[in-house]
Amino acid sequence: MTTKNIYQPFKIKIDKIEKHSRDVKLFRLVGDFSKNKDGTVFMPGQFVLASHFGYGEAPFGIASSPYQDSYIDLIIRKTGILTSALHQLKAGDEIFMRGPYGNGFPVDFISGKDLVMVTGGCGIPPIAALIEYINAHRDRFGRVYLIYGARTPADLLIKDKLKQWEDKIKVLLTVDKPAKDWSGYVGMVSELVDEIKIDSLDAVAAMCGPGPMIDALEKILRPLGISDRRIFVSMERKMQCGIGKCQHCVVGDKYVCQDGPVFYYDQIDKSWG
Ligand SMILES: Cc1cc2nc3c(=O)[nH]c(=O)nc-3n(C[C@H](O)[C@H](O)[C@H](O)COP(=O)(O)OP(=O)(O)OC[C@H]3O[C@@H](n4cnc5c(N)ncnc54)[C@H](O)[C@@H]3O)c2cc1C
Ligand code: FES
Repeated sequence: MTTKNIYQPFKIKIDKIEKHSRDVKLFRLVGDFSKNKDGTVFMPGQFVLASHFGYGEAPFGIASSPYQDSYIDLIIRKTGILTSALHQLKAGDEIFMRGPYGNGFPVDFISGKDLVMVTGGCGIPPIAALIEYINAHRDRFGRVYLIYGARTPADLLIKDKLKQWEDKIKVLLTVDKPAKDWSGYVGMVSELVDEIKIDSLDAVAAMCGPGPMIDALEKILRPLGISDRRIFVSMERKMQCGIGKCQHCVVGDKYVCQDGPVFYYDQIDKSWG
């Protein structure tokens, strides 16, 4: 991505911070990002390890376009020590970062097929990067759907992007508790299955989100007839090294940092949820 040694944290400047919901902020980090041979800076679904001196380090999915070489966006929910400290920062401050790490979504395999992406709440970052990748080559993909659920309309993140994407893909939004002016769907993402018209034999699904969301998918992807080996799930686990050395992220015989974070659906045991 940006340094000669991806294992070495480097300083990176916060260009801007946007508040996207009660407890979620978008951080735009500017740097000198070098491109891979195919023009990408990272693969959609990959993550970085971000740190702030004295508050630790944690993984975050990259939410911006893989073709953007002047900045990356991280969308960070305030949950604990590091994320609370990051939420105190302002534009112009610097943090540390290393990466990108992990495998990312298999964009070559998805190419030429219909795609259904499903996510909820703060699971949007890797899916956002995947959508940006697809929209950069829209003619290479079939019908593309995003199903995005949140608790309330105020909890839906990157609303400006959701609007922009409507020109190229079908965006289906659903909330548990609607506001007065809400015109989208209400209820579980699984209730949107009738809206999706795909060639099930040649379709792929990509998901990121909390355990209950993945369970809900049984109800949407099963009726759609997408097979387990065509369902890709981005998983979250506590990490330390990010490079397969410390065993912090081990689940079964897999390292989430190296073998993942994107797995085939049938690789995931229900206890992963
Ligand atoms: C591949 C990957 C991508 C990710 N992408 C994103 C992303 O894009 N955006 C995002 O917001 N997050 C993302 N995460 C999750 C993020 O890395 C974690 O939430 C991270 O732990 C936050 O660090 P923290 O120091 O703020 O929280 P921590 O202080 O580590 O706390 C995290 C959670 O653990 C709980 N906790 C902490 N200490 C204890 C304890 N002693 N006992 C019990 N519970 C405790 C906290 O209450 C909190 O709910 C990703 C994770 C992975 C693996
Ligand atoms: S985070 Fe150290 S092995 Fe995965």
